[in-house]
Amino acid sequence: MIPLQGRSVVVTGASGGIGTCLVAGLVEHGAHVVAVARQSHSLMVLKDKHGDALEAMTCDIADDADRTRLLVRLRSLQTPPSMLVLSHAMDGFGLFEQQSEASLRRLVDTNLTSSMLLLHAMLPLLRAQPQAAVVAIGSTFGSLAFPGFAAYSASKFGLRGLIEALAREYADDDALRFQYLSPRATRTRFNSPAAQALNRELSVHEDRPEEVARRLLAAIRRGDARLQVGWPEKLFVRLNGAFPWLVDGSLRGKLAAIRRHALPLDTRPDTENLDEPVSH
Ligand SMILES: NC(=O)c1ccc[n+]([C@@H]2O[C@H](COP(=O)([O-])OP(=O)(O)OC[C@H]3O[C@@H](n4cnc5c(N)ncnc54)[C@H](OP(=O)(O)O)[C@@H]3O)[C@@H](O)[C@H]2O)c1
Repeated sequence: MIPLQGRSVVVTGASGGIGTCLVAGLVEHGAHVVAVARQSHSLMVLKDKHGDALEAMTCDIADDADRTRLLVRLRSLQTPPSMLVLSHAMDGFGLFEQQSEASLRRLVDTNLTSSMLLLHAMLPLLRAQPQAAVVAIGSTFGSLAFPGFAAYSASKFGLRGLIEALAREYADDDALRFQYLSPRATRTRFNSPAAQALNRELSVHEDRPEEVARRLLAAIRRGDARLQVGWPEKLFVRLNGAFPWLVDGSLRGKLAAIRRHALPLDTRPDTENLDEPVSH
């Protein structure tokens, strides 16, 4: 197992449903965490919980000036970071044609471009360490493109491409590891009420974030290059790779439900009864 004791780990999306649990697991294994998110209030909650084992950094990853500020701080850490965990993301459930150009740009900037730029800027720091790792939290939709999630799927396919290409580019460097780890649907605020309603109608299982983080942490400690959480999802991802037309056919049958749930809120039928977002 790869030791985490005494290491400095940067976690983006640290205040999220999965991120919060990942941070707790990393601290439990002796890591010092630099927790990154936009909202200072959620970061303060984490700081109260973990004390000296955590440093909170308010930062909009998609903002160049914020990322520069983060890098300046990372360069001055007493224990330089030897692991970057990219767990931040925007969700993107909705019909592609109904999404604005600004929201599409924001989604790709947040999920892909800013991840790439942060990773690029941190590589010299990471490579100066005897053992370093970059862990990207992906998604099933990064291997199996899903209707109603076109831009989100594109951003996660891009993230997977980035991490797999870098793993191959640095394959002869034993001191640097790249890991792409994919949760399946997880019960966090990430899923809007409409996405939750769709999951229920399609009988998509939603994992608990604690359990997902436990699986991700085990994969981080083993140094797994890839992980797909969930058995049917593993199978569908493989099927999609080998026989994509089978998945095309299966998803075509789900289009009516996807379109109905993806309608903008003010145009949905009154009879639809949506849950409140899951808090965590
Ligand atoms: N939940 C699921 O069903 C599911 C399924 C598959 C994969 N995933 C992936 O798992 C990861 C974690 O998801 P989650 O469920 O924990 O999501 P979440 O609860 O919605 O948390 C998202 C996190 O990202 C941060 N964030 C979003 N935009 C940001 C930005 N521009 N700059 C900095 N931080 C930003 C949020 O903090 P602030 O709002 O404070 O910035 C929050 O900490 C994501 O990569 C997601 O794609 C989730």
